[in-house]
Amino acid sequence: MRASKGKQEEYRTISRRTILKASAAMFAAGMLPASAVFGKVLDRTQDQILGPFYPIMSEPDRSGDLTRVPGGSGRAKGQPVIIRGTVRNPDGKPVLGAEVEIWQANAAGRYAHPDDTNPAPLDPNFQGFGAATTGPDGFYQFKTIKPLHYPAGSIGIRPAHIHFDIRGRRDELVTQMYFEGDPYNEKDSFLQSVLNPDALIVKLLSPTAEEPEFMVAVFDIVFRG
Ligand SMILES: [Fe+2]
Repeated sequence: MRASKGKQEEYRTISRRTILKASAAMFAAGMLPASAVFGKVLDRTQDQILGPFYPIMSEPDRSGDLTRVPGGSGRAKGQPVIIRGTVRNPDGKPVLGAEVEIWQANAAGRYAHPDDTNPAPLDPNFQGFGAATTGPDGFYQFKTIKPLHYPAGSIGIRPAHIHFDIRGRRDELVTQMYFEGDPYNEKDSFLQSVLNPDALIVKLLSPTAEEPEFMVAVFDIVFRG
């Protein structure tokens, strides 16, 4: 027997609701990509150049704390900052085993790199090079210091930034993370070369009770994994 028009509508609503619920549950269980449920994929984090100062003098620090070096005399100079975030694929799924590397200038704008001609002083307590591997939740974190802007010859002054190289099984993303309020952001040809510069700029958040000295910046990353 055929159901009445009103009944048919009810069945349709229920079944759509049921499917959505089941899909959401499958997404939560990691069985379905977000794109299949929400019809949307995340934009891949925008690329930036590797730059001339990729570290060549040392292995990356794997302690998670770049503000101290083994055998050093104390904490690196500058504003301590915790950089943290989640690495996801475009479907929104956390990427396990992504290798996240960061490198940066110190609080005076100088890289621990032989090709850096900036006369600003090196900081013996700061190498500015770290690596972390994401777990099943895609999370990474580094304790570091906020770098300073630095002169880059004919390019002009580069705003404060931290370089990232994220490697997965099928993708590698090289980018740079910038800080909100830096007066050089708007004139920087590298930052302004991307479609959405704001997506590469982080805000420094207040410290937490557990780490009262460290400002906090969240920089989530999307790549293919
Ligand atoms: Fe740089």
